[in-house]
Amino acid sequence: MKAEKEKLPLDQIVLGNCKSLLSNLPDECVDLIVSSPPYNLGKEYEAKQALNKYLEEQTFILQECSRILKKTGSLFWQVGAFADKGTIIPLDIRFFPILESCGLIPRNRIIWARQHGLHAQKKFSCRHETILWFTKTDDYIFNLDAIRVPQKYQNKKHYRGERKGELSCNPDGKNPGDIWLFRNVKHNHEEQTIHPCQFPEDLVARIVLATTLKDDLVFDPYMGTGTVAIVAKDYGRHFMGTEIDPAYHEVALRRLSGEPDENGCFPNLKTLRDYVERTSQPVEKFKFDVQVGEKPSERSKAKIYPEEYHLQEMQERLLYEETAFAAILRNEDIPIDPQLNGNGKKSSSKNISVQMEIKF
Ligand SMILES: C[S@@+](CC[C@H](N)C(=O)[O-])C[C@H]1O[C@@H](n2cnc3c(N)ncnc32)[C@H](O)[C@@H]1O
Repeated sequence: MKAEKEKLPLDQIVLGNCKSLLSNLPDECVDLIVSSPPYNLGKEYEAKQALNKYLEEQTFILQECSRILKKTGSLFWQVGAFADKGTIIPLDIRFFPILESCGLIPRNRIIWARQHGLHAQKKFSCRHETILWFTKTDDYIFNLDAIRVPQKYQNKKHYRGERKGELSCNPDGKNPGDIWLFRNVKHNHEEQTIHPCQFPEDLVARIVLATTLKDDLVFDPYMGTGTVAIVAKDYGRHFMGTEIDPAYHEVALRRLSGEPDENGCFPNLKTLRDYVERTSQPVEKFKFDVQVGEKPSERSKAKIYPEEYHLQEMQERLLYEETAFAAILRNEDIPIDPQLNGNGKKSSSKNISVQMEIKF
């Protein structure tokens, strides 16, 4: 079946099961698929059986996704780990062969790292999820120039050879690499809605800009609150997808409309701030679904940290933790964390070892 754009539910999020929409979509009709599938595996089965059944269903969805993807298209599947009674199964390990069996070609396994999260007691705390990128063929789109980030050493020059004195790095910036640190959408994030696991818009923007062109079609079978649709629209791409939960579907539509509801309420702080900036209305006239304080704060008063800030902060923190660990091993003085705010006291490795002994 050849794709005809006018017959597709273009720029719509259909309320319902993605299986129904997928089975009605023609072959090779979308340019990009970005999604984070649900992996709440339910309680009705013993965990392993539930996981197998879940993967069976996902295999069907991914076969359909592969079928509707254009030859130049890409698929990004974002997953974490399935945890059960202290054991974990990183889901990308299970998804990788499924995607290969769909005839798709692996391009990247992106680590989406986080600085914060639950503290495990009997294993290392989990601080990353993954995004698998597969393409349909070798003839795929990758717009590196659209997603470059600043070089670490912007003015570094060749110091010998024919190009001596010339810049040794691209002044337009570097490839962002496969470790991403977009802040997780939780409290204090202006994009937070009632949904527990939203994509950050900037993460989706990197994918959309890298792998699509203007007017291309981006599909998400599990839209949640519509982040993929919002980003596609913001960057002049079309979107299409499904969401099964009416409450999340409604939030997605409200995000897309950008207008307040009859009570002057927005689905999140970002949509509210965009609206007041667009219409020059006072911020205190409105509220948003997950508001905690008396009134929403203006964007101009909010601190905004780009992804690079978080990456550098994490790099410094991990380096500090490893230096401190080395000091503990050698019974040396533990250096003070350079990022420490307030009255940090220099502790000796002995003190820390004592604290650690007590904790263990
Ligand atoms: C991990 S969330 C996606 C969140 C989304 N990326 C966002 O930014 O809001 C997965 C979503 O898939 C929805 N879902 C689960 N099963 C579905 C199905 N069979 N068809 C369509 N949506 C489904 C869930 O209700 C949930 O909102």
